[in-house]
Amino acid sequence: MKIELFTMRYYHDIINLWKRSGIEVSSSDTQDEIAKILKRNPDLFLIGKEGENVVAVGIGAFDGRRGYVHHLAIDPDYQKKKYGKMMMDDLIERFRKKKVHKVHLFIEKHNEEVVDFYKKLGWDIRDDLIMMSFVPDKSLYKRDVEI
Ligand SMILES: CC(C)(COP(=O)(O)OP(=O)(O)OC[C@H]1O[C@@H](n2cnc3c(N)ncnc32)[C@H](O)[C@@H]1OP(=O)(O)O)[C@@H](O)C(=O)NCCC(=O)NCCS
Repeated sequence: MKIELFTMRYYHDIINLWKRSGIEVSSSDTQDEIAKILKRNPDLFLIGKEGENVVAVGIGAFDGRRGYVHHLAIDPDYQKKKYGKMMMDDLIERFRKKKVHKVHLFIEKHNEEVVDFYKKLGWDIRDDLIMMSFVPDKSLYKRDVEI
């Protein structure tokens, strides 16, 4: 697998990949929203390709204080070949070069089994935190949208 920076030309490929690998796409994954996060973090938004096929994706983001990893996914046909580790190693190296102090990611409870994947890569579960969210404009945010 060859890791490259994501460009909008691959937008439909990553949407299909997320759907195929069980990641729910939301109103934050429309073409406009993905273009927004790409513009803010062009060097942290990665895809992995086998030939012309996009088989891996991971969005890295840095808000100036903390780093984040969103929507990491490996095509189900290519899982358990260390591609997930390759994507994460590449992203972490990029965070390290930017001198990011700490990186967070969120795992939905129904997907708890992937905790072991991240633990093997050295990530720790935070049991001292409660995650809370707020939607500033209810007309904007929608879960599970048709894209
Ligand atoms: C989670 C995911 C990214 C892992 O990618 P992958 O390419 O299959 O994982 P790798 O082959 O790099 O695995 C690295 C190590 O983690 C282990 N591992 C991978 N997935 C695992 C799982 N679901 N449970 C336990 N261990 C797992 C591997 O066995 C391997 O261990 P080893 O080093 O001892 O051999 C992939 O399964 C995926 O895309 N899942 C669906 C989408 C998803 O849930 N993304 C995470 C959102 S938070």
